[in-house]
Amino acid sequence: MKSQDIRKQFLDFFQSKGHLIVPSAPIVLKDDPTLMFNNSGMAQFKEYFLGNAVPKSTRIADTQKCLRVSGKHNDLEDVGFDTYHHTMFEMLGNWSFGDYFKKEAINWSWEFLTEVLKLDKDRIYVSVFEGNPSENVPFDQEAFDLWKQFVNEDRIIKGNKKDNFWEMGDQGPCGPCSEIHIDLRSDEERAAVSGFSLVNADHPQVVEIWNNVFMEFNRKADGSLEKLPAQHVDTGMGFERLCMALQGKTSNYDTDVFTPLIEKVEEITGLKYTSDDVHDISETQNKTNIAIRVVVDHVRAVAFAIADGQLPSNTGAGYVIRRILRRAIRYGFTFLDTKEPFIYKLVEVLANQMGEFFPEIKAQQNLVTNVIREEEASFLRTLDQGLQLLDNVISSTEGKLVDGTRAFELYDTFGFPIDLTALILRERGYELDEAGFEKAMLEQKTRSRAASEVSTDDWKILVQGNTETFVGYDQTENEVKITRVRKVDSKKDGVLYQIVLDNTPFYPEGGGQVGDKGTLISANETIEILDTKKENNLILHIAKSLPENLEGTFTARVNSNLRTASSKNHTATHLMHLALRTILGTHVEQKGSLVNPNNLRFDFSHFSKVSDEQIKEVEDFVNERIQQQLPLVERRNIPIQQALDEGAMALFGEKYGDNVRAIKFGESMELCGGIHVENTANIWYFKIISEGAVAAGIRRIEAITGDAVKDYFAKQENTLADIKETLKNPQDTMKAVVSLQDENAKLKKQVEVLLRDKIDGLKSDLVSEFQEIDGIHFLSKQVNLSMSATKDLAMAIGTSMPNSFVFLASIEDNLPNIHCYISKELVAEKGLNAGAIIRELGKLIDGNGGGQPFFASGKGKNVDGITAVLNQVLHYIK
Ligand code: SER
Repeated sequence: MKSQDIRKQFLDFFQSKGHLIVPSAPIVLKDDPTLMFNNSGMAQFKEYFLGNAVPKSTRIADTQKCLRVSGKHNDLEDVGFDTYHHTMFEMLGNWSFGDYFKKEAINWSWEFLTEVLKLDKDRIYVSVFEGNPSENVPFDQEAFDLWKQFVNEDRIIKGNKKDNFWEMGDQGPCGPCSEIHIDLRSDEERAAVSGFSLVNADHPQVVEIWNNVFMEFNRKADGSLEKLPAQHVDTGMGFERLCMALQGKTSNYDTDVFTPLIEKVEEITGLKYTSDDVHDISETQNKTNIAIRVVVDHVRAVAFAIADGQLPSNTGAGYVIRRILRRAIRYGFTFLDTKEPFIYKLVEVLANQMGEFFPEIKAQQNLVTNVIREEEASFLRTLDQGLQLLDNVISSTEGKLVDGTRAFELYDTFGFPIDLTALILRERGYELDEAGFEKAMLEQKTRSRAASEVSTDDWKILVQGNTETFVGYDQTENEVKITRVRKVDSKKDGVLYQIVLDNTPFYPEGGGQVGDKGTLISANETIEILDTKKENNLILHIAKSLPENLEGTFTARVNSNLRTASSKNHTATHLMHLALRTILGTHVEQKGSLVNPNNLRFDFSHFSKVSDEQIKEVEDFVNERIQQQLPLVERRNIPIQQALDEGAMALFGEKYGDNVRAIKFGESMELCGGIHVENTANIWYFKIISEGAVAAGIRRIEAITGDAVKDYFAKQENTLADIKETLKNPQDTMKAVVSLQDENAKLKKQVEVLLRDKIDGLKSDLVSEFQEIDGIHFLSKQVNLSMSATKDLAMAIGTSMPNSFVFLASIEDNLPNIHCYISKELVAEKGLNAGAIIRELGKLIDGNGGGQPFFASGKGKNVDGITAVLNQVLHYIK
């Protein structure tokens, strides 16, 4: 069965059991500060388990793109070494939100595996939770009894908390789970050793394929468990592993999920991958296999993350993506001998293979390809640079053990991977002080962990089960009640409180627009709201303190000046988006947006610089629509398909509900939850301030509207006035500036001529001052020239005389500089080294410098040291 068909069978089966089939959520999470990536099928449903939102069906099934590369579930370092872990994988899942529980979940998983897919029952093992008395969770008798209907007791493993109690993070919904494992070994192997003993023992052919989690608890901040108000089911089946089982393979990489990618790598590198049934391979072949697995695994993670809107970068989720890609690049570099970008060439294969089910990868193939190619090129340059630095480290190492802290510097500053450092050192006969490296690494981790430490208290609930309503599209002020509060203590921000209200006019950060600020007012207190954010469908109002009395009624008042300024920038962003697509082309897609009161920032896909003329066109396009006084047409709750049919713009990597809000100004129509002006005339004027590149194929525009434009023009006018005044108020300012420039150029030329004359004069004077010391023509002197002229002079005098040693010093801008020329014959015969001399003598002027053995220069801070330097040179030569 092809992987495509396996996926479909799963979805069809659960549809037939009354499940609603939903698409995969984007791989990158937008409104969950506790999680960067979707790391399991259930992540997109967290708000349902937490009771913060109501699902559109109590039974849902899907396949979810997951990434386990950070936080509690992190498989990154295993990937490549084994044949069944991945960075990105698909998780097939079925859910019950307070609907069915253990019985149906277990019965259906058995039915699907053995009756629909017809997996061999004798290869299946299952596990149930053994219980944990210290937490008061009993042995899962119910699951055990349910399984006994289908399998013998000797196929049911009683697992511990680590294997059979599933938790998504340190806090939140969790519960006992029941895993299904499959034994893919040959009949002889199975006869010799029972699969039972190999379950959860890291055996590559006895692997977990499906986990059925029975969510019934919530893990609280103090580590204790409390019962959830309803019982839920969360199941997750590893799609790639299921394909392995059904396609009769013993490695995920031998299934049709990976073989097209592997073939492409073979074609590019000329190397061969050996499938899992080839044994007794050489050490080199083993390394080739590992590297190929790393590359074909990682390209999927990186490509889908980029397609979902996460570009590689230096912070947060972007950094994780960059690191995954770099891991692939260096495995290629070291073991596949790929010194040029090549991973980007796999994107086409991936798009053809998965584009039908995941259209985002097909639609963004160009962008993904370009971004990956550019990242590869730049990291390969870093590797090159790192190799040179490593040379320096080696040449300054005494003995054979290379300092671990220096290897750490290479790793930390240049991203030069430690295993590569170790490998190169070994090849050159050196050894890495690994303990020193580990120590430096640990110290840094401790520092950064301390900096990012956050402790979150449990919610204090004041009003049960109240779903808050957002009233901020119509109001900036409202009467509210507090429903829950909690304290969050972080190194970064100190102690802050999160306040949830029964209804709120505060807009939570989202869709690029920053969260509202404002106040929460009661009869005797005013609490400052610093920011508003959304988390798992709750709107969090962030404050430095809580009201004394949490009960009672408050007035929630948004700072409407700030909000109005943001709304102008938000509407201008929509108009500009349309302008860019109209003027540059429909390949332009939003890749990032920041809307705040001061300005707007917009990142979009486009492959070349936006020219000055195009910038002007974009400004004119937007300003025309501002002048046309287009009214806001807001449709708050229309079916998504209707909105799309009417031409609304939707973004990749954004999670939309069935019903959406559409924002229309003239021909511009976007799906958007943000705050907009009532009429484009309110924007007053739109002005682009900068345009530049942020990544390969991604441009960034910054622009301003409203009062910010007034300030901008006023500032420009002031600058012009200052210039005029400085130029003594000429009739024609432009002409005055040009004539200044002309005059300056003329003067420069004259100075050059004069200087040359002076140097020539000095040169003939100085040549007569050479002394002969022990066969060396020696000259040392302080001259009155600029640094660069002194340098030229030293070179000119030195080359005019055989066996010469010339040392000149001068002062420029009150700082001393020194230069040393030594004839090549002297360098060769006497082993003199100008670079070393300059470095040594530079100390006397509090300076440093260097160069080559025959010529070097230095610069210092202490003018008084020049005399000592010149004495020392003479002394040295004598
Ligand atoms: N959340 C569980 C897991 O990831 C089941 O989906 O294993």
